[in-house]
Amino acid sequence: AEHMGADLERVLISEEEIQRRLGEIAQDIWDHYAGEEFLLVGVLKGAVLVMADLMRAFPGSAPMDWMAVSSYGSGTKSSGVVRILKDLDTDITDRHVVIVEDIIDSGLTLSWIRANLESRHPKSVEICTLLRKPDAAKVAIDCRWVGFDIPNDFVVGYGLDYDERYRNLRVIGTLAPHVYS
Ligand code: PRP
Ligand code: MN
Ligand code: MG
Repeated sequence: AEHMGADLERVLISEEEIQRRLGEIAQDIWDHYAGEEFLLVGVLKGAVLVMADLMRAFPGSAPMDWMAVSSYGSGTKSSGVVRILKDLDTDITDRHVVIVEDIIDSGLTLSWIRANLESRHPKSVEICTLLRKPDAAKVAIDCRWVGFDIPNDFVVGYGLDYDERYRNLRVIGTLAPHVYS
């Protein structure tokens, strides 16, 4: 059996820091819409934990929906070409939309998703991401809510996986070298 904690080299962001920051962002999002309804759109699968804790930090209810996307080809992340695996159940015409993500790495996934959602004539589209890697950005993304800017290192935990593992870690950290070999 694996011990996830032993596979971490370093904890970058603690459970307490994640929850405190999400609490601040939740309040800010709530205030921003000032009583107007907004729809949370999560990007499967990484955003599952951010969504769960963000929405529970709101003082009232907000509806949610989900998209699943996949990049084409072997050069996946560099192509920027995205395919929808699961579309929204909801018609977002004339609605405020908040895209919820775990991380903006190159920015290609989110820039495509945002353009795709904008084409459906929503009232507005904003982005909330827990993590962002400024040094990895290939496209500029206008992101209203960012939890933490982090260095360009491979991180896991709190939704972020390495080959589908470590998503259930409560912290965000880097993996020890022995995990890769
Ligand atoms: C990861 C992450 C973001 C995306 C960021 O998802 O959760 O969605 O990559 O990368 P980008 O900014 O370079 O486009 P992944 O494709 O690994 O799927 P997952 O969420 O199911 O793990
Ligand atoms: Mn993802
Ligand atoms: Mg992943």
